[in-house]
Amino acid sequence: MNPEGELEAIAAEVAVCTKCKLHHSRKHAVPGEGPANADLVFIGEGPGFHENEQGRPFVGAAGRFLEELLASIDMSREQVFICNVIKCRPPGNRDPQTDEIQACAKYLDRQVRAINPNVIVTLGRFSMARYFPNVRISAIHGKASVVMGRLVVPMYHPAAALHQPSLRRVVEEDFALLPELIARSQQISSSEVEPPTDPEQLSLF
Ligand code: URA
Ligand code: SF4
Repeated sequence: MNPEGELEAIAAEVAVCTKCKLHHSRKHAVPGEGPANADLVFIGEGPGFHENEQGRPFVGAAGRFLEELLASIDMSREQVFICNVIKCRPPGNRDPQTDEIQACAKYLDRQVRAINPNVIVTLGRFSMARYFPNVRISAIHGKASVVMGRLVVPMYHPAAALHQPSLRRVVEEDFALLPELIARSQQISSSEVEPPTDPEQLSLF
């Protein structure tokens, strides 16, 4: 299937998905949005109140900050694909649970495979953990690693930066690295290799 068709198929499946208990309380599932040929994919945590109301990712306060961060590198949300680890809102915005993340993982993996971006930015620790299990975000934020032929760059979640003013500068500085990383990522072979499971083996780019 072509990438657009696959993204539409995933969105349609997510809209009626009952694979985990979050389907009971959601108003709208939030599959994610953006161009199928995006170079850059952002992966957040999960829908919050506003996302659940609208069925769109990052449309609340964290989304406004994400848009500001994108503007700081002369980009806009229309140019990138934005999605989350879990597609339905956890009640009261609690953290996603392991069984929910596992139940939803196939959708995210299929989205990434369809888009085949050069660079993935993980926002917060839950999306980071999909690529770097057992690593602390304070140790690797802003550091790009090659995972399965693409660059993955962990960053703090914009919502964390809104709650913790000292993180704001850190997120802004990490974002400022992106244009250079996107440019350099074109050189990486797109050959798919198994992701390293041992964080010590990750090659920092
Ligand atoms: N926070 C997230 O992680 N994702 C959203 O879509 C909105 C807020
Ligand atoms: Fe399905 Fe994911 Fe929603 Fe759970 S969070 S119901 S697995 S789409």
